[in-house]
Amino acid sequence: MPSKKHILIASPEVRPLAQTGGLADVAGSLPAALVRQGVETAVIMPAYQSVLQNKAIRLKETGIRLVITQADQIIEGFLLHGELTPGIPAYLIGCDQFFNRPGLYDCDGIEYPDNPERFTFFCKAVLQVLPHLANYPDIILANDWQTGLIMPLLIIQGLDRPRGVFIIHNQGYLGLTPHDKLDILGLPPHFNNIDGLEYYGQSSLLKAGIVFSRALVTVSPTYAKEIQTPEGGHGLDGTIRHHAEKLRGILNGVDYTLWNPKTDRYLPAHYSARSLKGKRRCKETLLAELNLTGAAERPLVVMVTRLTAQKGITLVAEAAADLFHTGLNLIILGSGEPFYENMIRGIEANFPSQYRSVIGYDEALSHQLIAGADMILIPSIYEPCGLVQLYALKYGTVPIVRAVGGLNDTVRDFAGTNPKGLWDTGFKFTQFQARALILTTKRAIDLYNRPRDFTAMVKAGMKEDFSWDNSARQYLKLFEKVLAT
Ligand code: ADP
Ligand code: GLC
Repeated sequence: MPSKKHILIASPEVRPLAQTGGLADVAGSLPAALVRQGVETAVIMPAYQSVLQNKAIRLKETGIRLVITQADQIIEGFLLHGELTPGIPAYLIGCDQFFNRPGLYDCDGIEYPDNPERFTFFCKAVLQVLPHLANYPDIILANDWQTGLIMPLLIIQGLDRPRGVFIIHNQGYLGLTPHDKLDILGLPPHFNNIDGLEYYGQSSLLKAGIVFSRALVTVSPTYAKEIQTPEGGHGLDGTIRHHAEKLRGILNGVDYTLWNPKTDRYLPAHYSARSLKGKRRCKETLLAELNLTGAAERPLVVMVTRLTAQKGITLVAEAAADLFHTGLNLIILGSGEPFYENMIRGIEANFPSQYRSVIGYDEALSHQLIAGADMILIPSIYEPCGLVQLYALKYGTVPIVRAVGGLNDTVRDFAGTNPKGLWDTGFKFTQFQARALILTTKRAIDLYNRPRDFTAMVKAGMKEDFSWDNSARQYLKLFEKVLAT
């Protein structure tokens, strides 16, 4: 019998330990899905201050000390270990100098200037701890720019195992390292040419992952195409085209044990496609808690989002007056850049009776909003996969999305009532224009005003299945291919 494969997932964030966005959901739920496919999986991430304080899982000292050279500095670190869930080891790389601070990547919206040093340290530490892990990995599955350097480091060390597979969750984050910091990376100079890390006079750690991986994944088929175009490539479209043969788009999955309206521990009432009464209670409770009284009959639209340019907040601000004119109520939960925090706060002054904004990262409220709403708005400029629309579908909350990336791949635009039954799951628009958003929201509200048809769409969405198994099988096939060559 062939021995089991061992996969090590390296990620800058893993739910429930540390999270700023969907990457943490993926890194937290893909391991169990891979284990179900018969491969052993472990995760490795930085031991941020918040991870040590929140104690989401029990962590033990391993006694292993790390000594990493970066340019002319010697930096010390340590290795902790625990279990993400039973049977899935979690390894954490600690370092007082780099990870004992309040934020993951920034403080109050201002990026830490030594992020290249911090994540270079993390990548080097991952390689240093390999011999100490309970299972030596066959594959390192590295995620986003923070882990990109692992790919060339594997090549330099000349190791046959592990082999490197790199996932691009967001090509907009290039992990730029200025030229004068190059010597921290510890790569031979020829790795920094145009076919290597070099990016318009700087180095890109994302590009390191793209160029030096054995296989490349991004998180939806449409995004796999978009990143090969100048509009979607963030300056790396040529590089992606050059490496297109090793690229594939594998859609993210959902952990339905966490996102299920029948069992969700954050909801005031539970419901299913067969009985939607509980959803109505979720809406009423939410409106009362946010003091949007007398609004239960009106369509409730929500957004749950990181506040960055990517998410199309400007479009919502621009469209606000027309949107509220339709009679809808809107609640936005978001955290991120102060500029966009002010923008979503600013809407409230003009529309106090129809709008609430909540600034912060609030897991419980995110579930309550997705359950209590009639529709969710996702007007992204680009969206590699998007998870909130997948959660919303399961919760009977109709997505209104821009037809990009994974949003395009997972939502079916309403094409009219079908005599055989409505099977479309949402509303899509193409142009990044306020007018397109307004017209599409009006289409959604027209359907909302025909309750029977709207309920049919709600139920069609709830029947969709984006569980991990199908995607995990695709990862497994990819690992087999990478190990066979
Ligand atoms: P992205 O990774 O680009 O932020 P996704 O849709 O893939 O977008 O994933 C976002 C994840 O982060 C979801 O789990 C969503 O519920 C969560 N999330 C985003 N913003 C917040 C917030 N302010 N509070 C709670 N959860 C949030
Ligand atoms: C990124 C993308 C998002 C994707 C998530 C997980 O943060 O912006 O679209 O769903 O990663 O892959």
